[in-house]
Amino acid sequence: MFKEGYPNSFQPNSFPNPKSKLHLLLEIRPRSIMMASSMFYSANMPLSMPQMLRVRASNTNDNVPIKKMGMSDAECEAAVVAGNIPEAPPAPSKPAAPAGTPMVPSLSLCRRPRRNRRSPSLRSAFQETSLSPANLVYPLFIHEGEEDTPIGAMPGCYRLGWRHGLIEEVSKARDVGVNSIVLFPKVPDALKSSTGDEAYNENGLVPRTIRLLKDKYPDLVIYTDVALDPYSSDGHDGIVREDGVIMNDETVHQLCKQAVAQARAGADVVSPSDMMDGRVGAIRAALDADGFQHVSIMSYTAKYASSFYGPFREALDSNPRFGDKKTYQMNPANYREALVETREDESEGADILLVKPGLPYLDIIRLLRDNSPLPIAAYQVSGEYSMIKAGGVLKMIDEERVMMESLMCLRRAGADIILSYFALQAARCLCGEKR
Ligand code: PBG
Repeated sequence: MFKEGYPNSFQPNSFPNPKSKLHLLLEIRPRSIMMASSMFYSANMPLSMPQMLRVRASNTNDNVPIKKMGMSDAECEAAVVAGNIPEAPPAPSKPAAPAGTPMVPSLSLCRRPRRNRRSPSLRSAFQETSLSPANLVYPLFIHEGEEDTPIGAMPGCYRLGWRHGLIEEVSKARDVGVNSIVLFPKVPDALKSSTGDEAYNENGLVPRTIRLLKDKYPDLVIYTDVALDPYSSDGHDGIVREDGVIMNDETVHQLCKQAVAQARAGADVVSPSDMMDGRVGAIRAALDADGFQHVSIMSYTAKYASSFYGPFREALDSNPRFGDKKTYQMNPANYREALVETREDESEGADILLVKPGLPYLDIIRLLRDNSPLPIAAYQVSGEYSMIKAGGVLKMIDEERVMMESLMCLRRAGADIILSYFALQAARCLCGEKR
């Protein structure tokens, strides 16, 4: 029958007709069973779940009772009433404590929360949060090259060739149920300018890549980043005035053009990560004016001026050439301010609200979750990823377990979706594939 350890969301008796087992073995692709079986990750389950559920096509009847006496139900009952009690194993004896255990009177507690944590079955029955590949969005770095270039500060991540490496990576992700990606381009220096006009070049790297992806995988959900930094010769998310001020409204004008160019190429969700004021409403109006009413906006609502972005900026060579991003990204010390941004983004028509970074900002995720009915996204950023990778490489932590725990914690805090460089690795883990 089934290998042990199948998730409780997928019971063997959900097959209506046991006689069709052979048929199932022949007809069901392992992957489709695997996906159905792994929709819910349980922190209590062994990390390596069965790669596929095995269905044995044998003739032996799995349901034979141990030994039948040939008595009818009435005869069995009569025997018991007559005092002929059939045998069953004795109650288990009390396990011995080690020698030297102090003898103490038991505490008189009416509530012992450990009762509900006694066994794997109880623990998974009472698990409050689940994690599925469908919750994950996979951020991918792309470049014009043919090769995939490793990113030093992000072990396991590459700048992918848009034509080959990217397509392969997306295919791998889809194989384990991750059908959402977000694109980050590495733009040649020669195409960068102070006004970032390459951002809305209809034949630029991002729009071209979206068209290729949509051609290969029409149902892939493509998120795009809306901000000028990959295109800015100043490395800022907006246009920089000569006195160093980031110009808000002029930047928003460029962002609208960028979002429309991405939508025209086939983007499903445009994601302004620039933190300019009023950009969500302006982008909504620009999209609608061009007939892209169906394109969603995921707003980086609470994006903090964080040092956890370091590895990402190395990946895209997008470090600010001067100064920092503190006049537009939020102060990590602030909590209430996230509500100001939430109100603005909601009223301007955002479809999804994002908090970034993730793990150090769980309180902000919870704040938005409790104050808005909109879906909440969390971005587990490059620095969070690289710290876990580094800890794993140095054998200081169990990389896989810490990865899964960090993602579960983001879900528990209230994130519906999680943007994570671990998306593929975690989804493989959820599907019982170990690499
Ligand atoms: C910029 C942008 C950044 C990230 C996503 N979009 C970096 C920044 O604000 O400097 C960071 C993502 C990460 O660190 O993984 N628009």
